[in-house]
Amino acid sequence: MEARCSSCFFTALLLCRLAGMAQASCDFPAMFNFGDSNSDTGGLSAVFGQAPWPEGETYFHSPAGRYTDGRVVVDFIAESLGLPYLSAYLNSVGSNFSHGANFATAGSTIRPQNTTLQQSGFSPISLDVQYNEFYEFHNRTPVARQKGEVFEKLLPKEEVFSKALYTFDIGQNDLTAGYFMNMSTSEVRAYLPDVLGQFKNIVSYVYSQGGRFFWIHNTGPVGCLPYVMERVPILASQVDPVGCASPFNEVAQDFNRGLKEVVMQLRQELPQAAITYVDVYSVKYSLISHPEIYGFKHPLRTCCGHGGRYNYDIHVGCGATAMVDGEEVMVAKSCDNPALHVNWDGVHFTEAANRQIFEHIRSGLFSDPPVPLSSACLRMPPS
Ligand SMILES: *[C@@H]1O[C@H](CO)[C@@H](O)[C@H](O)[C@H]1NC(C)=O
Ligand SMILES: *[C@@H]1O[C@H](CO)[C@@H](O)[C@H](O)[C@H]1NC(C)=O
Ligand SMILES: *[C@@H]1O[C@H](CO)[C@@H](O)[C@H](O)[C@H]1NC(C)=O
Repeated sequence: MEARCSSCFFTALLLCRLAGMAQASCDFPAMFNFGDSNSDTGGLSAVFGQAPWPEGETYFHSPAGRYTDGRVVVDFIAESLGLPYLSAYLNSVGSNFSHGANFATAGSTIRPQNTTLQQSGFSPISLDVQYNEFYEFHNRTPVARQKGEVFEKLLPKEEVFSKALYTFDIGQNDLTAGYFMNMSTSEVRAYLPDVLGQFKNIVSYVYSQGGRFFWIHNTGPVGCLPYVMERVPILASQVDPVGCASPFNEVAQDFNRGLKEVVMQLRQELPQAAITYVDVYSVKYSLISHPEIYGFKHPLRTCCGHGGRYNYDIHVGCGATAMVDGEEVMVAKSCDNPALHVNWDGVHFTEAANRQIFEHIRSGLFSDPPVPLSSACLRMPPS
């Protein structure tokens, strides 16, 4: 009885505090992002070559280092915080880091993969490397700023590091890496604790560098993505009513339960941190399972691709060309109206889907604690 009363009181207090801070705005002066292609804004392109046309066609009207027709979710996050789009840390040409940096690259995993990009398609810039980059960025910045002029203008002040929002969207490729090496679902499950342990270490290292405000996306329903379904057909035959491959989605949900547990442990271990866990999985799954509500028509078929039941061919990726009668023609072209598609190229979401994802998560409805993005600096008791 007593326990129930104090928990009622606690809930009332929480609601009260949530109501009180509806207007609270954190004024994050910068953002630092860690992740994979879901949030890459030019990292992989800077090192391994520009992602080809028609990437970027809808918004940037030319390739812009993103694996979609326009903006990714972190672009919408930056916009809503009043910040310019994040420059990729690895992009030395024309970048401005005064408001943060993006360490994400397409194909990144949490754990280093022991294979090259050419061998496996996974980026050598795994999360541990992204942290090293952040460490160097943080520790060299004050020295460079002392040179004044352009260095001062393009790099953040020291105080920015403890006021910035640190965003994470990574893990999907750790799940597919095992499957693509022909592991069974139980073998993939068996290494999740190692993956999650390494993720946890990186968040605490960022904290030790002064980071305080963390916004952590969970991983999406990878079993709804054509590149996974086509590559592992045996498991892809076990489909749910929506047409997504259940084994992969169950592993993604296992990963997400583990991630939520890690976030709870981090809150205990890092008392000054405000950590928001964001359930992107549910939002992405609802776009795919109820496309008509959001104005989409083709939840599993790609916009930019070639052939097959999903308009996706592993060997003919978005933008692929071939010689026809001595002329180079694009074989995997973009569709007429990308805004009707959830899936861009078999791997990534369209800008229209990314916008929907952002609109859903900004309010806090999919977060734990249920805090809006603009208030993610407030330390709240978890729900
Ligand atoms: C870098 O970005 C900041 C923030 O948008 C802006 O105020 C500043 O003018 C930019 N600096 C340069 C040199 O472009
Ligand atoms: C890479 O190799 C190291 C050393 O053998 C091993 O501990 C690690 O688990 C491997 N990483 C992956 C993702 O398999
Ligand atoms: C996985 O299995 C397929 C089919 O048996 C085979 O072609 C492929 O080489 C295997 N991949 C690895 C990484 O072992």
